[in-house]
Amino acid sequence: MCGIVGYVGGGAPGARAEGVVMGGLARLEYRGYDSAGIAVVTADDAAVAMRKKAGKLVNLAKELAERPIDHGTAAIGHTRWATHGAPTDANAHPHLAAGGRIAIIHNGIIENFSALRAELEAEGIEFLSETDTEATGHLLAREVETGASLAEAMRTITRRLEGAFTLLAVDAREPRTVVGARRNSPLVVGLGEGENFLGSDVVAFIEHTRTALELEQDEVVEITPEGVTITDRSGHVVEREPYTVDWDASAAQKGGFATFMEKEIHDQPEAVADTLRGRIDEHGKLHLDEGLVHEALLASVDKIIIVACGTASYAGLVGRYAIEHWCRIPVEVELAHEFRYRDPVVNVRTLVVAISQSGETMDTIMAVRHAQRQGAPVIAIVNAQGSTIAREADAVLYTRAGPEIAVASTKAFLAQITATFLLGIYLAELRGNKFPDEIEALLSQLDEIPAKIQRVIDTSEGIREVARSMADERTVLFLGRHVGFPVALEGALKLKELAYIHAEGFAAGELKHGPIALVEPGQPVFIVLPSPRGRESLHAKVISNVQEVRARGARTFVIAEEGDTEAANHAEQVFYVPNAPVLMTPLLQVVPLQIFALELAAAKGYDVDQPRNLAKSVTVE
Ligand code: M6R
Repeated sequence: MCGIVGYVGGGAPGARAEGVVMGGLARLEYRGYDSAGIAVVTADDAAVAMRKKAGKLVNLAKELAERPIDHGTAAIGHTRWATHGAPTDANAHPHLAAGGRIAIIHNGIIENFSALRAELEAEGIEFLSETDTEATGHLLAREVETGASLAEAMRTITRRLEGAFTLLAVDAREPRTVVGARRNSPLVVGLGEGENFLGSDVVAFIEHTRTALELEQDEVVEITPEGVTITDRSGHVVEREPYTVDWDASAAQKGGFATFMEKEIHDQPEAVADTLRGRIDEHGKLHLDEGLVHEALLASVDKIIIVACGTASYAGLVGRYAIEHWCRIPVEVELAHEFRYRDPVVNVRTLVVAISQSGETMDTIMAVRHAQRQGAPVIAIVNAQGSTIAREADAVLYTRAGPEIAVASTKAFLAQITATFLLGIYLAELRGNKFPDEIEALLSQLDEIPAKIQRVIDTSEGIREVARSMADERTVLFLGRHVGFPVALEGALKLKELAYIHAEGFAAGELKHGPIALVEPGQPVFIVLPSPRGRESLHAKVISNVQEVRARGARTFVIAEEGDTEAANHAEQVFYVPNAPVLMTPLLQVVPLQIFALELAAAKGYDVDQPRNLAKSVTVE
């Protein structure tokens, strides 16, 4: 939550500072859009120049057009997802200190900010905002005023901070320097030629460089046009190997689509294909991307716990069906924020799988750490290269969905499901649950999925039309059973997030235990119908559920497999998806539901890429 950008470049091209930071903020706006602000340092001013505005980045751009800032050598910028203090101009970052000499921005929560604020106020310092961040600026000012460099001051003050933070600061007296620090929040360094960058995410600077390095916990970084210096909490210089980001700026653009979400829905065939590509060698062995969990250990685990939040947890629910079926290992799926507070039974024989698009979801990070403390090996299924979860897990299986910018997850979800299948196939092979020819068959079935997803996208006009006709609905229900249940949950979540319509996903069998009381004449109900080629009884049972809601006046919209001749008898409208093996059907069935939510939200005139109250990376607990 909150997007952070920092830039420093020397000499005449130093004029880039404001433009680079505003460009980075535009690409990071998915992380929060309650307010935005920028501070620029010029070589000859005693104070930094700052502009900040409540609301989306466009407001800040307008402000800059009306009140331009002189070109600078260094700049920091922030786009906010509010935690402490309402989304006002005053609470927008940056915050100034030392009479305007210092500017600071922050992502995270300073948990001991009240005590710090009281201490500073007792010294006569006047606070201008309600944020937890402002105290850090005044602490920094206190240090630099005693003669410390900005980097030294940052190292000193971070020792006093509790909670989660990425902090970036500039000092008008050090116009060729930006200093950053992180704990439990992300910060990536971009390496340029005669210029360097900082960002919450590589998208902040991908337009300028694909060479990056990550900061570890409690490190402080100082960037100048000439170089980057990282120090640990005791001030020792740390060497860090840079890596090359494996996608470029075009992947983080809309590519001719009206919205990122529409583009990302269209990216899904490629996201699944890329996640599968080159993963299994000629011996049928899956290669994890990074780190190592000994095969002997994996062969001996007696339980798997998948931890994740939101959409990623629904990917885990789909993965559970496949892994249990293929590997005969019990799999639990738990919301990461619930996991560590219930004293879960986890030990060295429990494999914990953390699923996260961003790799920065604080709830999931905390669950990973909790599991590791109990001795459990952790495999991360993560999309963002070099993110905290990827770095802290014992091994990583990257989903190769490319950057997902729209706040509502789409392509990452499909890639996550695909990755859980790969993991299941790997474990099945390792533990001798499947013969090589069975593994081969599963892999070739998966290989056919991307083209089938493409067909669903290409034939989506019917569901788009229905969506446009539903802009005035107040409640929509989604039913599914077996692997269709997580699809129903995801369909409901997409609708809530994007169209702000009350939506609930239910296990179809649960309906009669209470939720059916919600059904009134005219109530739209979407049903994810199991394949009739799967367990026959399951298909028949869900058809009965459709009948039950229809008998009470519901309007039923069914997602069914091509060739399911029964479906049309029970629905106002059927949306067909291609045949696939039962466990793989969620990769197809969810696509019409994503498109439904997108189209309905657009019909209501909502911003589908940046729905209200949300942020892409939830970096607070
Ligand atoms: O980055 P993560 O995958 O860890 O994020 C988890 C959830 O916050 C995320 O999936 C959220 O539910 C999405 N907004 C859903 O569209």
